[in-house]
Amino acid sequence: MAKRTTKKHDVKQQLIDGLNEDLNLELEAVLRYLYHSASATGLLGHELREELKGDIAGEMNHAVFLADKITALGGELDINPSMPKKVRTAREMMKIDVAAERHVIANYATRIAQAEECGDRGLAIRLEDMLAEETDHAEELERLGR
Ligand SMILES: [Fe+2]
Ligand SMILES: [Fe+2]
Repeated sequence: MAKRTTKKHDVKQQLIDGLNEDLNLELEAVLRYLYHSASATGLLGHELREELKGDIAGEMNHAVFLADKITALGGELDINPSMPKKVRTAREMMKIDVAAERHVIANYATRIAQAEECGDRGLAIRLEDMLAEETDHAEELERLGR
């Protein structure tokens, strides 16, 4: 027999699923920044190391917040991050990092709308702060490549 669900339940479950996706992207950022900040070489690599080292703790804080929120919503954690791809040059690392930041910015915009739909204004506000931080990251990284 098909599981009966209300619309409200579906919307909440979609939010929880989305937050799990975001949680894994944050954990991937931590792992990737650890790798990139420790191994980037050359002048651009030097700049990249400085930038990324400062962002590792912030991305970890995002992951901790999301994990707690998933549990608070009655959801189950699905921790399954991908390992960072092997990359040789600092420029390639920077491109991957910019694309990843832009990806999470788009995700948070979607998640804010879902949080509002669930009536969770507090979550929407926290996600807005995170979206602003990720935008700062993306812009700082993009500037390195100019
Ligand atoms: Fe983040
Ligand atoms: Fe970021």
